[in-house]
Amino acid sequence: MPTVFNHRHLLGISELSAGEITHLLDTAETFRDVSRREIKKVPALRGRTVINLFFEPSTRTRTSFEIAAKRLSADAINISVSTSSVSKGETLLDTARNLEAMSPDCIVLRHSMAGAPYHLARICNASIVNAGDGAHEHPTQALLDALTIRERKGRIAGLNVAIIGDMLHSRVARSNIYLLTKLGATVRIAGPGTMVPKEFAELVDVGLRIAPSVAEAVSGADVVMILRIQRERQDAAFFPSLREYAIHYGLHADHLQQAAPDAIVMHPGPINRGIEIASELADGNQSLILDQVANGVAVRMAVLYLLAGGSRDGFIEESNGPAKPERKERQGNKG
Ligand code: CP
Repeated sequence: MPTVFNHRHLLGISELSAGEITHLLDTAETFRDVSRREIKKVPALRGRTVINLFFEPSTRTRTSFEIAAKRLSADAINISVSTSSVSKGETLLDTARNLEAMSPDCIVLRHSMAGAPYHLARICNASIVNAGDGAHEHPTQALLDALTIRERKGRIAGLNVAIIGDMLHSRVARSNIYLLTKLGATVRIAGPGTMVPKEFAELVDVGLRIAPSVAEAVSGADVVMILRIQRERQDAAFFPSLREYAIHYGLHADHLQQAAPDAIVMHPGPINRGIEIASELADGNQSLILDQVANGVAVRMAVLYLLAGGSRDGFIEESNGPAKPERKERQGNKG
């Protein structure tokens, strides 16, 4: 029986099976074509409402969720925290309860607190999408990374993926490690010892390797994924200086020569040029950084479509499609 995506929320990759991840990627692949059409709009989520609630800055994730919702014909509302009543002291849960009273179908949340989307999922009838919670998870980033890898390499299973940089503060690293190992890749990580969480040692059984240097992580890699130094989360001295970080943990051209000849270079953005990655590599012909951004729209269309009960007919051609599933039917779902 084919795997379906039967979750009510998308909170983390850790809760998804390999089959569910593949189903999400297959759905995203279908939606990728919509963005290549002259008229980039399908009626799949007509009448649905998506609220983007971002408590942290974002360029790629917030914009692509908004574009994704609009390309599916949903109404997309962006809440700017600085001009909302959060600035008057309203709590996250009160904010969510008040938004919920306006009957949105999905609330997309980015928050600095790990676990914040789980709190919303407990009190909201709307589907909650985690758009990054502290250093915990960024599931749609991992999905768009996987879609980009699959598009170029044709598979995930059996690939060697190097992830380099600040693992400690990186929700992107966590979600990618969960996803890539579930789909059968081997992941080698490298970064300053102070920035590799102790609990990663427990992931050795599922295919994670902790490499002693960037050179060893990158050697023979099919995919080289660079993480951003999150200067806004550096509340302690994890390395002596940015200059030394760039020397010892930045990706340089000689590293890439040790990778597989057709290796691809990825970065979730925003990039600190000259620190975690040399500009010539970020802009080089092995870089898929902007493909990642393009695939972000397709992945977020798939996520909103699957969570908000979109019509299958709706994205093939103009159609009324079947009615949205009753919310009661979906309340027993996982997630
Ligand atoms: N990759 C990513 O999450 O980028 P933004 O912070 O710009 O959304």
